[in-house]
Amino acid sequence: MNKGNIILVGFMGVGKGTIARELVKQSSLFAIDTDDLIESIENRKVKKIFEQDGEQYFRNLEKRCALWLEENVSNTLISTGGGFYKQENLNKIGKVIYLQSSFEGILNRINNSEDAQKKLKKRPLLKNLEEAKKLYDIRVSDYIKVADIIINVENRNIIDITEEILEKI
Ligand code: S3P
Repeated sequence: MNKGNIILVGFMGVGKGTIARELVKQSSLFAIDTDDLIESIENRKVKKIFEQDGEQYFRNLEKRCALWLEENVSNTLISTGGGFYKQENLNKIGKVIYLQSSFEGILNRINNSEDAQKKLKKRPLLKNLEEAKKLYDIRVSDYIKVADIIINVENRNIIDITEEILEKI
Protein backbone atom coordinates (compact mmCIF):
# COMPACT_ATOMS: atom_id res chain seq x y z
CA MET A 1 0.00 0.00 0.00
CA ASN A 2 1.29 3.46 -0.86
CA LYS A 3 1.16 5.52 2.32
CA GLY A 4 2.46 8.67 0.64
CA ASN A 5 5.42 8.98 3.00
CA ILE A 6 8.85 10.17 1.89
CA ILE A 7 11.85 9.00 3.93
CA LEU A 8 15.16 10.87 3.81
CA VAL A 9 18.17 8.69 4.56
CA GLY A 10 21.89 9.42 4.48
CA PHE A 11 25.00 9.81 6.56
CA MET A 12 25.24 12.07 9.62
CA GLY A 13 25.67 15.70 8.70
CA VAL A 14 24.63 15.33 5.06
CA GLY A 15 21.76 17.78 5.60
CA LYS A 16 18.67 15.58 6.08
CA GLY A 17 17.12 17.94 8.64
CA THR A 18 17.89 21.11 6.69
CA ILE A 19 16.53 19.63 3.47
CA ALA A 20 13.42 18.37 5.26
CA ARG A 21 12.71 21.87 6.61
CA GLU A 22 13.07 23.42 3.14
CA LEU A 23 10.83 20.74 1.59
CA VAL A 24 8.16 21.49 4.16
CA LYS A 25 8.32 25.19 3.27
CA GLN A 26 7.88 24.43 -0.41
CA SER A 27 5.16 21.81 -0.23
CA SER A 28 2.13 20.82 1.78
CA LEU A 29 4.01 17.95 3.42
CA PHE A 30 4.04 17.53 7.16
CA ALA A 31 7.34 16.43 8.73
CA ILE A 32 8.65 14.05 11.39
CA ASP A 33 12.26 13.36 12.41
CA THR A 34 13.08 9.95 13.91
CA ASP A 35 15.72 11.33 16.32
CA ASP A 36 13.18 13.92 17.53
CA LEU A 37 10.56 11.20 18.03
CA ILE A 38 13.02 9.12 20.06
CA GLU A 39 14.11 12.13 22.13
CA SER A 40 10.52 12.95 22.90
CA ILE A 41 9.54 9.48 24.08
CA GLU A 42 12.74 9.24 26.13
CA ASN A 43 12.73 12.88 27.27
CA ARG A 44 16.50 13.11 26.76
CA LYS A 45 18.90 13.83 23.92
CA VAL A 46 20.31 11.15 21.59
CA LYS A 47 23.78 11.92 22.97
CA LYS A 48 22.54 11.20 26.52
CA ILE A 49 20.84 7.97 25.42
CA PHE A 50 24.15 6.75 23.92
CA GLU A 51 26.08 7.78 27.06
CA GLN A 52 23.65 6.33 29.56
CA ASP A 53 22.33 3.21 27.82
CA GLY A 54 24.58 2.55 24.85
CA GLU A 55 24.09 2.23 21.11
CA GLN A 56 22.09 -1.02 21.13
CA TYR A 57 19.43 0.54 23.35
CA PHE A 58 19.16 3.42 20.87
CA ARG A 59 18.88 0.98 17.94
CA ASN A 60 15.99 -0.77 19.70
CA LEU A 61 14.25 2.58 20.00
CA GLU A 62 14.77 3.16 16.28
CA LYS A 63 13.14 -0.18 15.57
CA ARG A 64 10.17 0.68 17.76
CA CYS A 65 9.92 4.00 15.98
CA ALA A 66 10.01 2.29 12.54
CA LEU A 67 7.14 -0.04 13.50
CA TRP A 68 5.12 2.88 14.80
CA LEU A 69 5.71 4.86 11.61
CA GLU A 70 4.59 1.94 9.45
CA GLU A 71 1.37 1.52 11.38
CA ASN A 72 0.44 5.11 12.01
CA VAL A 73 1.93 7.64 9.63
CA SER A 74 0.93 8.67 6.12
CA ASN A 75 1.56 11.59 3.72
CA THR A 76 4.53 12.72 5.77
CA LEU A 77 8.14 13.62 5.13
CA ILE A 78 10.24 11.52 7.49
CA SER A 79 13.84 12.56 8.12
CA THR A 80 15.93 9.90 9.84
CA GLY A 81 19.04 9.39 11.91
CA GLY A 82 22.02 8.13 9.86
CA GLY A 83 21.59 4.52 11.01
CA PHE A 84 17.82 4.29 10.54
CA TYR A 85 18.18 2.96 6.98
CA LYS A 86 18.78 -0.50 8.49
CA GLN A 87 15.17 -0.91 9.50
CA GLU A 88 13.73 -3.96 7.80
CA ASN A 89 10.37 -2.33 7.16
CA LEU A 90 11.82 0.84 5.62
CA ASN A 91 10.23 0.28 2.22
CA LYS A 92 6.89 -0.46 3.85
CA ILE A 93 6.96 2.95 5.51
CA GLY A 94 7.39 4.91 2.28
CA LYS A 95 9.52 6.00 -0.65
CA VAL A 96 13.18 6.17 0.32
CA ILE A 97 15.37 9.06 -0.83
CA TYR A 98 19.10 8.73 -0.27
CA LEU A 99 20.95 12.04 0.08
CA GLN A 100 24.37 11.27 -1.33
CA SER A 101 27.68 13.02 -0.70
CA SER A 102 31.30 12.02 -0.28
CA PHE A 103 32.64 11.86 3.29
CA GLU A 104 34.82 14.91 2.57
CA GLY A 105 31.77 16.78 1.28
CA ILE A 106 29.94 16.05 4.55
CA LEU A 107 32.88 17.23 6.66
CA ASN A 108 33.13 20.42 4.60
CA ARG A 109 29.43 21.06 5.05
CA ILE A 110 29.70 20.64 8.81
CA ASN A 111 32.88 22.71 9.13
CA ASN A 112 31.43 25.55 7.05
CA SER A 113 28.27 25.76 9.12
CA GLU A 114 27.83 28.41 11.81
CA ASP A 115 27.19 25.81 14.49
CA ALA A 116 29.92 23.32 13.50
CA GLN A 117 30.90 22.55 17.08
CA LYS A 118 27.31 21.91 18.08
CA LYS A 119 26.80 19.60 15.08
CA LEU A 120 29.87 17.57 16.02
CA LYS A 121 29.10 17.50 19.73
CA LYS A 122 25.56 16.18 19.47
CA ARG A 123 26.63 13.20 17.31
CA PRO A 124 28.39 10.51 19.38
CA LEU A 125 29.43 8.57 16.26
CA LEU A 126 31.22 11.59 14.76
CA LYS A 127 33.52 12.01 17.77
CA ASN A 128 36.34 10.06 16.15
CA LEU A 129 36.65 11.01 12.47
CA GLU A 130 38.67 7.96 11.52
CA GLU A 131 35.96 5.71 12.94
CA ALA A 132 33.28 7.82 11.30
CA LYS A 133 34.96 7.41 7.90
CA LYS A 134 35.03 3.63 8.40
CA LEU A 135 31.33 3.69 9.22
CA TYR A 136 30.68 5.80 6.11
CA ASP A 137 32.54 3.31 3.91
CA ILE A 138 30.55 0.40 5.34
CA ARG A 139 27.22 2.13 4.93
CA VAL A 140 27.55 3.77 1.58
CA SER A 141 26.58 0.75 -0.55
CA ASP A 142 23.70 -0.11 1.81
CA TYR A 143 22.18 3.35 1.49
CA ILE A 144 22.16 2.84 -2.28
CA LYS A 145 20.53 -0.59 -1.89
CA VAL A 146 17.59 0.69 0.15
CA ALA A 147 17.03 3.84 -1.93
CA ASP A 148 14.20 4.34 -4.40
CA ILE A 149 15.69 7.67 -5.46
CA ILE A 150 19.27 8.94 -5.10
CA ILE A 151 19.93 12.68 -4.89
CA ASN A 152 23.46 14.02 -5.08
CA VAL A 153 23.65 16.88 -2.58
CA GLU A 154 27.36 17.66 -2.64
CA ASN A 155 28.27 21.29 -3.35
CA ARG A 156 24.68 22.14 -4.28
CA ASN A 157 22.46 24.78 -2.83
CA ILE A 158 19.40 23.83 -0.89
CA ILE A 159 16.95 25.32 -3.40
CA ASP A 160 18.35 23.18 -6.24
CA ILE A 161 18.26 20.09 -4.09
CA THR A 162 14.68 20.57 -2.92
CA GLU A 163 13.54 21.36 -6.47
CA GLU A 164 15.02 18.09 -7.71
CA ILE A 165 13.40 16.14 -4.90
CA LEU A 166 10.00 17.73 -5.50
CA GLU A 167 10.26 16.91 -9.22
CA LYS A 168 11.10 13.29 -8.52
CA ILE A 169 8.67 12.33 -5.78
C1 S3P B 1 23.43 8.11 13.94
C2 S3P B 1 23.05 9.33 13.41
C3 S3P B 1 22.43 10.38 14.22
C4 S3P B 1 21.68 9.77 15.40
C5 S3P B 1 22.60 8.90 16.19
C6 S3P B 1 23.17 7.74 15.36
C7 S3P B 1 24.06 7.10 13.05
O1 S3P B 1 21.50 11.13 13.42
O2 S3P B 1 20.57 9.04 14.99
O3 S3P B 1 23.64 9.69 16.70
O4 S3P B 1 24.13 5.91 13.40
O5 S3P B 1 24.50 7.49 11.94
P1 S3P B 1 21.98 12.18 12.27
O6 S3P B 1 22.18 11.39 11.02
O7 S3P B 1 20.84 13.12 12.17
O8 S3P B 1 23.21 12.83 12.75
